[in-house]
Amino acid sequence: MGQVFEMASSIVEVKNLKKYFAVERGIFKKAKGVIKAVDGVSLSLKKGQTLGLVGKSGCGKTTLARLLGGIIPPTAGEIIYNSQEISNLHKDIQIIFQNPYQSLNPKMRIWDILLEPLVIHRLSRNRERKSRVVEMLKRVGLDEECLLRWPIQFSGGQRQRISLARALILEPKFLVLDEPVSSLDLTLQVEIIELLKNLKRDFNLSYIFISHNLSVVRQIADQIYVMDNGKISEKIF
Ligand SMILES: Nc1ncnc2c1ncn2[C@@H]1O[C@H](COP(=O)(O)OP(=O)(O)OP(=O)(O)O)[C@@H](O)[C@H]1O
Ligand SMILES: [Mg+2]
Repeated sequence: MGQVFEMASSIVEVKNLKKYFAVERGIFKKAKGVIKAVDGVSLSLKKGQTLGLVGKSGCGKTTLARLLGGIIPPTAGEIIYNSQEISNLHKDIQIIFQNPYQSLNPKMRIWDILLEPLVIHRLSRNRERKSRVVEMLKRVGLDEECLLRWPIQFSGGQRQRISLARALILEPKFLVLDEPVSSLDLTLQVEIIELLKNLKRDFNLSYIFISHNLSVVRQIADQIYVMDNGKISEKIF
């Protein structure tokens, strides 16, 4: 079991995916239990589409996001990536998390935050890197002046833009957006959703957009899956 690469018309296809966590119950940690965080999910994401995933807190959305991003291995089932689209799991699939206060290292300047993925993946030459960083910053609506500042000097909405720039600098094919606007107030939510739509068009991306809020997902998704207790309970097209 695990990740399989093969040709498919979808960018990614998930078949009967399961993730169970073993947990200890009771204060004396004698009893063992299992949490079925993802319990038999099947779905398929077509190229260029936005698949919305909604559900209550604890229904397994973030666990599914982590499985899709290859951060944790499944207990059972398959994730089939289209090998023409996704050749490097850690570069081609990027995850944006809910809390931009936690996802940016407070000890790094924006310049280093944006440069780091290029260095790790050994992309572009030194002198091209700067222009790539500046260009990406502009694409998410920030300017060059931000580069020498620290994450603490930015608002939540600006930090989410920086997170997006950091993800997009790797030219991924597919973004998993886990509650990307949930920590923002309403006007900022609208702004970031508009930005996400533009970036998707400009960079030819596919999205999985996760939220507990159906009205937010409706603004961006082509199809919506409702998740409940680790399972898909409904599809809205
Ligand atoms: N590493 C882990 N070990 C044990 N249980 C876990 C682990 N990660 C998640 N869980 C459990 O799996 C279930 C699903 O969690 P998950 O974070 O995927 O939910 P969610 O839908 O993202 O919720 P929220 O809307 O609050 O973010 C929860 O019961 C959670 O406690
Ligand atoms: Mg979550």
